Parts: sequence; C-alpha cells; structure tokens
Amino acid sequence: MDILAVGEPLLEFNARIDGARPVQGGDAFTVGYGGDTSNFAVAAARSGARTGYVTRIGDDDFGAAFLRMWEREGVGTDHVVREAGGRTGIYFVSRTESEASFVYHRAHSPASRLAPQDIPADAVARARLVHVSGITQAISPSACDAGFHAMELARRAGALISYDPNLRPALWPAERARAVIMRGVEMCDIALPNLTEGRALTGADDPREVLDAFVRRGPATVVLKMGAQGALVAHEGTVTRIDPHPVRQVDPTGAGDTFDGAFAARLLDGAPVPEAARYAAVAAALTTTGLGAVTPIPHRGTVDAVLAGGPRPVRPSRPIRR
Ligand SMILES: Nc1ncnc2c1ncn2[C@@H]1O[C@H](COP(=O)(O)OP(=O)(O)OP(=O)(O)O)[C@@H](O)[C@H]1O
Ligand SMILES: [Mg+2]
Repeated sequence: MDILAVGEPLLEFNARIDGARPVQGGDAFTVGYGGDTSNFAVAAARSGARTGYVTRIGDDDFGAAFLRMWEREGVGTDHVVREAGGRTGIYFVSRTESEASFVYHRAHSPASRLAPQDIPADAVARARLVHVSGITQAISPSACDAGFHAMELARRAGALISYDPNLRPALWPAERARAVIMRGVEMCDIALPNLTEGRALTGADDPREVLDAFVRRGPATVVLKMGAQGALVAHEGTVTRIDPHPVRQVDPTGAGDTFDGAFAARLLDGAPVPEAARYAAVAAALTTTGLGAVTPIPHRGTVDAVLAGGPRPVRPSRPIRR
C-alpha cells in the first residue's frame, strides 16, 4: 500500500429531516460510513491511491458492513483487527440550517483498544505516506500511543506523515488535546488543520497568523482549511490561496477528510502542492453536496472533469439497506 491511515471507523446514522435532533421528532436515518480516517482512506482510494486502513472493529454486523465497504472501495483491510464480542462505534448526525450536531456512541469501542502493537511495522516501512488524526489520538491513551508509534515508524522508514488535528473538545481535555495534537503537528510533514481548530490550538485569530503558527512547528506543508472560504496552503516559503469550488452545500460531514485524502493521493502521484490542493478543494466541495461522509466522495474522473471545466456529475447515493 502507498498510503496507510490509522484510526476509528464509525457507522453513521444521518437524520433525513433537517432541524430534527436524533429521535426528537426525527426518526428516519440514512445509514452511512464515517470516522475521519476511514473517510480519508476512501477519499484517497477514490482518487486512485493504493490505500490501506489500520483499525480495530467488532465482529458485529456494523464491523462486517465496514469490511464490505472497504473491500468495495479497494481500501486494504489486512491490518483491520476484528475483536470477538466487540461493538463497532456509531454516531448520529442531525442538521439545522446553520450547523450539524453529533451524538457519538464509541466509548469502549474496539478502536479505543488500538495500541502500538497494532501498527504493522512492515506495512509502514513499505508505505509512502502514513495518515494519523487528532481523533485517532483522542479516543484512548493506547490509541494515542498507537498514533505516535505509527508516526515514529513512518519517520524512521522515510515515509511522509500527514496529520489532521480534527480537534473534538468532547473527546478529551483541552490541555491534553493541545499538547498531543501539536506534538503530532511537529512530527508530521503535512499538517491539515481547519480554521476553527487552528485558532483554538494556536491562539492566533487571523488565518495567515494561524497558518504561520503551524509552519513554525516544522511541517514542510501546512493546509489551513476554511470551509466555504477555501483553503490557504503554505509550502517552501510560499502561501497559496485555494479558492473554494462553488457548490450548494447539503451536508459538510467529511469535507475535511476528503480534502486530506484527495490531497495525499495527488501528491503521491507527483502533483505539485498547489495543484494537489486545488484538486482536493474540488473533491471536498463535491463531498458537501450529498448526504453522509462517504457516499458523495467523488472519484478521480469526476474531479478531473470539473477541473477541466466540464460538467459535474454527482454519483448517486448508495446507503446500506437492511
Ligand atoms: N460549502 C463549501 N463550498 C466550497 N468548498 C467547501 C465547502 N465546505 C468545505 N469546502 C472545501 O472543503 C475543505 C475542507 O472543509 P472544512 O474546512 O469544513 O474542513 P474540516 O472542518 O476539517 O471538515 P471536517 O468536518 O471533515 O473535519 C475546505 O478547505 C474547502 O476547500
Ligand atoms: Mg477536519
């Protein structure tokens, strides 16, 4: 595999009715696939990268559904451990006009038992890029160590490391989150924060200052994702503004993860950083036009067609039916 992602998948229950909090008035859900690093892996695979996933899931139906999905997507599952009796984590997402709200059921999930010994040293040594996120490191102390171990092995093997802070204050205390995430940023080659978490982590407010604060921690490339405002990219002393691709946003879930995975795939394909970022911004924008994290992630051909100025086909949704 060229890319290995490490983290937790979560089955997604997406409220079909806008404005309805889960179960209070809204009892219809579209089932989909989430979990930031799993979304990353699917996005990288749909952009053409040979990608594998390192995680722990249960031997329940939810875990089985993930295995089928990864296999359909061509995401390698050699390093997915199925725990007997384990229950794969889930989350509910519901939206109002202005924001999405999330309810997670992931405590004691198999992925929270990720530990350094789950990181496959041989596969990391063969990979060209290893991806870890702040969520990977937030779910438990052993998963935190697994994230650091994966990055350490990647660095020793000369693989690139990409790191998305994905700060989720509900998962861990602010001081620990900041300390761990900024250490991850220092260890990585490609840091991928969004503006909100970038501000919280650096204390800066202005996007250029937030970007610079990450650059000072050492990564060769920093992408500051700014939702509908696009992104700022710092690389080799140059800052490039990446304009947003205009879309009608339906559900922003997974836009950041799609950006990360698409960006990594194009970089490994030899695209210069600004070109990979423009590709990733289109992939991420298209992801917001459909419900769910994984279903609307575009394939390479779709993104290339948009970049070439052609029509914008959107893949039909394919939720799990049971
Ligand atoms: N409404 C939008 N219109 C156009 N582009 C968008 C929109 N929302 C997101 N994007 C693109 O997706 C990228 C990532 O989105 P965002 O900044 O929301 O990431 P994030 O906060 O990390 O997301 P996540 O919720 O997955 O963690 C942006 O930099 C932008 O290029
Ligand atoms: Mg994010």
